[in-house]
Amino acid sequence: MNILILGSGGREHTLTWKIAQSPQTEKLFVAPGNAGTHEIAVNVPIAADDFEAVKKLVIDEEIDLVVVGPEDPLVKGIHDFFLQDEALRAIPVIGPQKAGAILEGSKQFAKEFMLRHNIPTAAYECFTEKSLEAGYAFLEKLSPPYVLKADGLAAGKGVLILSDLNEAKNELKSMLVDAKFGNASTKVVIEEFLSGIELSVFVLTDGKNYVTLPTAKDYKRIGEGDTGLNTGGMGAISPVPFADEIFMQKVEERIIKPTIDGFSKDGIPYKGFVFIGLIKVGEEPYVIEYNVRMGDPETEVVIPRIKTDMVDLLKATATGTLDKVSLEIDDRTATTVMTVSGGYPEAYEKGKVISGIDAIADSIVFHAGTTFKDGQVVTSGGRVIAVTSYGEDFKEALQKSYESVSKMDFEGMYYRKDLGFDL
Ligand code: AMP
Ligand code: GLY
Repeated sequence: MNILILGSGGREHTLTWKIAQSPQTEKLFVAPGNAGTHEIAVNVPIAADDFEAVKKLVIDEEIDLVVVGPEDPLVKGIHDFFLQDEALRAIPVIGPQKAGAILEGSKQFAKEFMLRHNIPTAAYECFTEKSLEAGYAFLEKLSPPYVLKADGLAAGKGVLILSDLNEAKNELKSMLVDAKFGNASTKVVIEEFLSGIELSVFVLTDGKNYVTLPTAKDYKRIGEGDTGLNTGGMGAISPVPFADEIFMQKVEERIIKPTIDGFSKDGIPYKGFVFIGLIKVGEEPYVIEYNVRMGDPETEVVIPRIKTDMVDLLKATATGTLDKVSLEIDDRTATTVMTVSGGYPEAYEKGKVISGIDAIADSIVFHAGTTFKDGQVVTSGGRVIAVTSYGEDFKEALQKSYESVSKMDFEGMYYRKDLGFDL
């Protein structure tokens, strides 16, 4: 099969790495890809949300399957675009149609979905500019900290957690009235604060059947001890040690099954990955958010633990036969350490030459923000390279990742040295 992967980060390099291992893969394309995908596939310099350019590529290269990495093209309707086009209709797309992608595209929609299907989540209400006063009143009823969420996509920045009531009111006004997050904050979800430890569960579904992929925990803050600004993710560990069998049974019964059944009941066509952001409060799981794609850097630890042929899984997703495949998982722990550009997640420089990658032998190097310049691999983003290792437990795996990271370098390189500190 000829397969196209859309996206350019560590998630996409990992998916490409895994799909390249399948004997069923003939030609493999990534658009736009990075310096890592260039080594194992053909990079095509088109944006993942340039639908017309994607169409031309799919037809010219006789692509048989498209895997969508990031949420943006899904929320913008790339799957629907394929279904509406005579020439593309028969080519399967992994990733939900707009009607499913809105689970990530609108926090209000996601909350209503959970309420409708009895899926445990924080209590909430939704407000607009017109109901600002009611929003203030709702905040007064809650106790701190206050959780304010822009309804729409805000590049991971749309959630504010505030300890002071007046500050919360001011931020609510700035989101609703002054468009703090642009159109994304014309509606704001205010919700009850849940106190616990977070983890993520990943599901691959054909809309009716599903397989539960390994759990993972990511480290979102830039600073050690989970301090400082939020990032896309500074590293990840899979499996999550505290997600034991009893807890995962609760997740399956109370969250995964009702979510997939909810798609059928609501008439939401969904073929693709569901990323369920969970929080464990005491011993009970609650949903923090849905994403309609794999996580990054969680993919860099989840996918390397899957032994099953990825193309079999994706084909079964496309044809609605996921009940026929058995998922085989590597028992080992996988960890990934993300190296980032100095200054990230604020302003940072690009174009720094990356050295030492070839010296890394005991880990897998997944490129995130890299490109080529004058024949050298250079940085091109905030998150640069994720270094994944296996171990008997997360400590052993992390030790390998850190040893490997010490072999590579670029000017300003930073990474967190305390991953797993909370486990
Ligand atoms: P989200 O974009 O919805 O994942 O929110 C970003 C982060 O805010 C989450 O990863 C949590 O750490 C935190 N968060 C979101 N909602 C809540 C909540 N109801 N209670 C506590 N923390 C939350
Ligand atoms: N690592 C979090 C995300 O992919 O959204």
